[in-house]
Amino acid sequence: MIPTISAVDGALGLVQDGYLFGIRRFERLHTDAFRTRLLGHPTVVARGAHAARFFYENGRFARVGAIPASVSHLLQDEGSVQTLEGDAHRTRKRLFVETMGVQGRERLLATFDEEWERASVRWARAEAPVVLHDEFVHLLALAALRWSGIPDDLWLPRFPELRDSLAGMVDHAASFGPVNWGERSRRRRVEDWAVGVVERVRSGAVTAAEASPLARIAAHEDGEGIRLPHTIAAVELLNLLRPIVAVARFLEFAAVALYRHPEHADAFRRNHDEDLPGFAQEVRRFYPFFPLIAGRATRRLTWNGAEFEAGDRMVLDLYGTDHDPRLWPSPRRFDPGRFRHPLSDRNALVAQGGGEYADGHRCPGEPATQDLIEHTLRRLVRLDYSMPPQDLRISLRKMPAKVADGVLITDVKTA
Ligand code: HEM
Repeated sequence: MIPTISAVDGALGLVQDGYLFGIRRFERLHTDAFRTRLLGHPTVVARGAHAARFFYENGRFARVGAIPASVSHLLQDEGSVQTLEGDAHRTRKRLFVETMGVQGRERLLATFDEEWERASVRWARAEAPVVLHDEFVHLLALAALRWSGIPDDLWLPRFPELRDSLAGMVDHAASFGPVNWGERSRRRRVEDWAVGVVERVRSGAVTAAEASPLARIAAHEDGEGIRLPHTIAAVELLNLLRPIVAVARFLEFAAVALYRHPEHADAFRRNHDEDLPGFAQEVRRFYPFFPLIAGRATRRLTWNGAEFEAGDRMVLDLYGTDHDPRLWPSPRRFDPGRFRHPLSDRNALVAQGGGEYADGHRCPGEPATQDLIEHTLRRLVRLDYSMPPQDLRISLRKMPAKVADGVLITDVKTA
């Protein structure tokens, strides 16, 4: 039997407890799932690898109608890969999986490296403390736009606006009312710009670098001979650019983790970096980012004694699963050693979704995110800098979370 909590506890709890919404109730009720009303709908909220497998595998839950418009219009948006299911989803998803394949990731890292070189020279000259959060947003936005294959003259002149909007879409995804409307109208301007980019490539007015993400999106066919409408191609272009900029949050968390665990930083500096990939994984597990994900049953389902009719809602607690004590002993301890052995269950670490890449909604940017964090760790331990007194707290009530002062560094010296 899945216990039920009141609608008031459901709605207020999410606002009051933020990332700890699920965990507090799972612990209080000694359960891995409970029923409540969220945003006016009866919902089962669950955590754990078993729940993640049920939610993510075999196309049981679709996203359309499950994620509030205020969130989805700032993130994946209408007509995107996330709104598709079955064969239509598989065909569109291939575009992302191929774009983010080994070669695409190598090119992204190389571009990121070039931007890091330029940025670190600027940091070394800075007279005021450098705010790593802002710097990471800036250099990831530059790297993403260069990597995308969009000709420079179409984005460079309006770079500050594009950067701020790409970051703002994520910063304000959980906002309501005027802040959310303002961000959505800023996004519409960026969408218009992206539509213009796609139109110009397709008309031959400009050329996208061969096999670049832009060239792939412009040429992608969903069915035989049917190219994506300009507007959908633009949405998918933003679905590459926006999340790359969002990786900035994990990079600032990685900087905090290095500061809090100097023994690991010292080891990495001395090239004892066996645990470095595990450190990056632990950053994705430990720190709060994507809190939960909602879906609607695509058909009649039964799980743990709960019956779902088509259309019924389930919320998977991603943060709660990444802090589930049965999967992660002492989940509030930061311990890269957890990852010395390969994970035996693809539904245990779900910071970027569960299940499979090709056949489900798991994030196609997960390997690139992991690469970017590892790369940043290597670069940070080789950069000479100090951390002045500052507030490094990360509130679990504000979604998406960020470090209070954004991680300040001073006295930067490049090699
Ligand atoms: C910043 C780190 C990132 C986080 C926390 C994150 C998180 C997620 C999560 C939780 C999902 C699953 C959503 C669902 O179940 O419906 C997802 C899907 C997705 N992510 Fe990411 N992501 C990140 C980075 C990236 C990157 C770098 C890219 C691409 C360059 C990307 C592109 C996508 C796309 C296109 C989907 C939709 C996949 C589908 O519906 O099949 N993400 N992401």
